[in-house]
Amino acid sequence: MKSPFVVEIRPEQNINTTFLVLAKDIRQKKSGDPFLSLMLADKTGELDAKMWDNAAEVMETFDRDDFVRIKGLTQNFQNRLQLTIHKLQKIEDSEIEVGDYFPASKHDPREMERELRQLIAGFTNPHLKALLETIFADERLATAYRTAPAAKSIHHAFLSGLIEHVLSMAKVAKFTASHYPDIDVDLLLTGVILHDIGKVHELTYHRGFGYSDEGQLVGHIVMGFQMVTEKAAGIPGFPPRLLQLVQHLILSHHGQLEYGSPKVPVFPEALLLHHIDNLDSKMEAMRWTLERDTRIDGFWTTYNPSLERVVLKKLRYLEDKPAVAAAAPPQQQPKSAPAAAQQQQQHPSGGPRPQQNSLFADKLSQAIKSH
Ligand SMILES: [Fe+2]
Ligand SMILES: [Fe+2]
Repeated sequence: MKSPFVVEIRPEQNINTTFLVLAKDIRQKKSGDPFLSLMLADKTGELDAKMWDNAAEVMETFDRDDFVRIKGLTQNFQNRLQLTIHKLQKIEDSEIEVGDYFPASKHDPREMERELRQLIAGFTNPHLKALLETIFADERLATAYRTAPAAKSIHHAFLSGLIEHVLSMAKVAKFTASHYPDIDVDLLLTGVILHDIGKVHELTYHRGFGYSDEGQLVGHIVMGFQMVTEKAAGIPGFPPRLLQLVQHLILSHHGQLEYGSPKVPVFPEALLLHHIDNLDSKMEAMRWTLERDTRIDGFWTTYNPSLERVVLKKLRYLEDKPAVAAAAPPQQQPKSAPAAAQQQQQHPSGGPRPQQNSLFADKLSQAIKSH
């Protein structure tokens, strides 16, 4: 059993354990000697690591997506956990339990698939029911659907994140639909189930998460549109106009042209689908940001580029004991990096973002508060 997991690691801790290499950079010190800058990970989070000495001996022996055994020491660097590597050795997949390294939904994928199939069985519209049953009769597709993450890094970026996202949205869809008159629940739920289906091929998720070549070139909206259009073509008598509505649900679910949708939502179910998708992804992004924040001290998480903000650690803030928090951060805020760790310093504009909530800023705000 791997120990410790990223979530358990504290500053000034001697580490001797295994990680997945998420990112590997060879850089140069002022002296001209190389050093290694790595992003290491396990299923609980990510850890920034540097190998300053003897990097030349090991830097060609492993690559991104490999597993490595690391000996080193952690420290608090600019209010974040950083590991200084003393020894690094590549290890084989057979030496580790692969499940320890990839974040996964807390729910059982097969149980979630059963829930999804029950949802479809409850449809009253025979055409939409037939469409969904045809899609999930494809075993390869069904397996990919219950395994895929919902995103590379922004929200539900863990194995089976897509189906978890869809089931969560389905619950919101049901009670939202009951509030607004004239909503066609079956149509809305069809949009919920199919809106991100293109992600099963857009993303790669056998090691670290990334985009497939087709995903980079075509994207999940058009890929999902194509998949559903092809399946519907195999159902005799599927009403062409109903198919257009389903196609529109997929095409418009990002809500605005600048977010990648070629069409804005033009009927109520499409508008609702967009807002439910946005709500569920943002709520999950906030939860994830809080759970995996790397900052050791203070009330604020690091900047989250998808949410375009830092997030308040509400419980710590309400306790209002910064000195205590500094010594022993509360358990509910593990100090591992979020999946978007590589993006944390990135402003949505793409340029580096000025450091928010620096130690200086934290001290300044506390000084102001105490006056
Ligand atoms: Fe999407
Ligand atoms: Fe989504």
